[in-house]
Amino acid sequence: ENTALLKAIIEHAIDGIITIDGRGYIETINPSACALFQYEPHEVIGKNVSVLMPPPDKEHHDEYIQRYQHTGRPHIIGIGREVKGLKKDGSVFPFRLGVSEVQFSGRKIYTGFIHDLSREKEAEEKLKEYT
Ligand code: HEM
Repeated sequence: ENTALLKAIIEHAIDGIITIDGRGYIETINPSACALFQYEPHEVIGKNVSVLMPPPDKEHHDEYIQRYQHTGRPHIIGIGREVKGLKKDGSVFPFRLGVSEVQFSGRKIYTGFIHDLSREKEAEEKLKEYT
């Protein structure tokens, strides 16, 4: 069946995929995102997505979502941004964030696509040491 296929695709995706509700609460998280952030699904489902980011974004993410909902002007949706994630062990890592918006069963859902950039950034830093 089609939904089973879609589930399998998300389950095996290389990139992390997280969905949040209109207030920023995590509804689903795929294994790749769990591995990146070092959490089990039950530890973050129902929590604000801001638990996965360091300051200063942590304190402002609710406002980011609210501003978008009031103005309709996106800063990341349909654009993407390089941001920092916060792992359970407290370490911070860079990733490329893509966000899309869907209306599902009359509710607004946002899907975040997380592409880890740790290796690329490390390589960049090493290169800088030689120049
Ligand atoms: C907006 C950071 C994860 C959904 C933003 C903005 C920043 C940000 C900086 C506003 C940009 C601006 O106003 O200039 C982060 C960081 C994350 C993260 C550091 C690390 C975990 C996520 C995830 C989702 C998400 C996983 C969705 C599942 C949104 C939405 C907006 C937003 C819906 C408002 C719409 C927009 O500005 O386009 N985020 N975000 N964010 N973020 Fe996140």
